[in-house]
Amino acid sequence: MTQFDARTVPADQTSRAALEPAGLDYRLVDAADTTALDGLSRAVARGFLESEPTEEVLLAGRPAQETRRLVGVYDGENPRVEMPVATVGSWVAPLTVPGGELPMWAVSEVTVAPTHRRRGIARAMLEGELRAAAGAGIPIAGLTASEATIYGRYGFGQATWETRWTVDTRRAGWAGPEPEGRLHPLDRELLAAALGELHERTRASRAGDIAGWTRRWQQIAGTDPGEPHGRSVRGVRYVDAEGALRGALAYRVVESEVDWTRSRLEIRHMIGETAEARAALWRFALQHDLVGTVEAGMRPADDPLPWLLADSRAAVPTVQDHGWLRILDVPRVFAARTAAAPLSVVLRVGDRLGFAEGVWRLETTDDGRFRATPAAGAEAELELGAGELSSLYLGGVSARSLAEAGRVRGDLAAAARLDEALRLERAPHLSIMY
Ligand SMILES: CC(C)(COP(=O)(O)OP(=O)(O)OC[C@H]1O[C@@H](n2cnc3c(N)ncnc32)[C@H](O)[C@@H]1OP(=O)(O)O)[C@@H](O)C(=O)NCCC(=O)NCCS
Repeated sequence: MTQFDARTVPADQTSRAALEPAGLDYRLVDAADTTALDGLSRAVARGFLESEPTEEVLLAGRPAQETRRLVGVYDGENPRVEMPVATVGSWVAPLTVPGGELPMWAVSEVTVAPTHRRRGIARAMLEGELRAAAGAGIPIAGLTASEATIYGRYGFGQATWETRWTVDTRRAGWAGPEPEGRLHPLDRELLAAALGELHERTRASRAGDIAGWTRRWQQIAGTDPGEPHGRSVRGVRYVDAEGALRGALAYRVVESEVDWTRSRLEIRHMIGETAEARAALWRFALQHDLVGTVEAGMRPADDPLPWLLADSRAAVPTVQDHGWLRILDVPRVFAARTAAAPLSVVLRVGDRLGFAEGVWRLETTDDGRFRATPAAGAEAELELGAGELSSLYLGGVSARSLAEAGRVRGDLAAAARLDEALRLERAPHLSIMY
């Protein structure tokens, strides 16, 4: 799928007008102007509590920034005129959905300077992003959030979850398969390339994942100059019995100050194209000499890890929301999705920003997809907000759970039917941060 170029979408005039009376200039940043580009990147680093980027780090960040639609908010009284007081960057990325993919407006680099917080700047930027995306015909927006409290008010809902594992390697043992392939060490450049290649090959097999980009793999593999622990990153690859690349692991070992034989192995990223590759990479990490604890974040909810261990309680999971979605075009997102069971249900969706607002008949088609059509006047069986609809879309949470929490209201039998139709074989999962 050729992706839409978000940079062609002009600055949102409603947001521009909202910020102007406060002396704030909301505008697109021209990536060809390197002073403006670096000023924005420095503001992003400030927002995310990072240290001031060096020239080398700014230079390394430019290629990725140049592909994005960058918005800066400038305060004319600011002594550093090239540094915005607020930032947001977006691009259109393919999002895997059950049965295909959708162009998704990816929102990132959302920061407001601590001197300018809580004046409605983030609200203007986020609503501006959604209007820009919808105006350009992009049916869904997505992001990963620093805090779970920020984005629900704009109609985003948690749609994928990450599991963080902490494994006591002495206790874990191994009950999984003996892989037939082989492991090889990879230097960091080759590791970045292998991760990029494997991600591109595997992202279509998990609803909720999006395409990666070169700098993301360089950051994970530690070759990007902005990575604080870049030089300590190590890599291995897994090739199957036929010699084909099937998996890669980026990790770092942090020595224990009290007991060198109980160091901590942090998994930065693991991709296995096959179950065999995933098991082999887990085994490699768990049986690493001088390691007492393995930690791995951003793993899917249905990772088989505990079932690979002789003692499943050696692996302790912590679950947290990860990918957030925001439906902008109800008929298009549902037409793109396959259904697990036949369905006909009437939903009343509330959306303060209007994009998903309305009464919708959601039904399945003869070819196993969904169809959402306006059904004004029909009696709604379930009522929910745009954020809840976005959470349900990939089947990662059940309407029944949301109903028990009061987030979906109406007929529980209709919620159960909706769940049957939205159910997936594999948990939705976003494997990267953006
Ligand atoms: C999060 C951040 C962008 C918010 O910017 P802001 O300009 O202060 O936000 P606004 O003034 O537009 O606030 C809009 C609404 O969000 C709420 N809000 C803002 N930040 C919030 C937070 N961190 N937690 C909970 N609510 C928050 C405000 O109270 C306000 O609520 P309302 O619905 O009652 O109006 C800013 O605090 C920031 O840059 N934080 C550090 C970087 C970061 O975490 N960015 C997000 C990356 S995913």
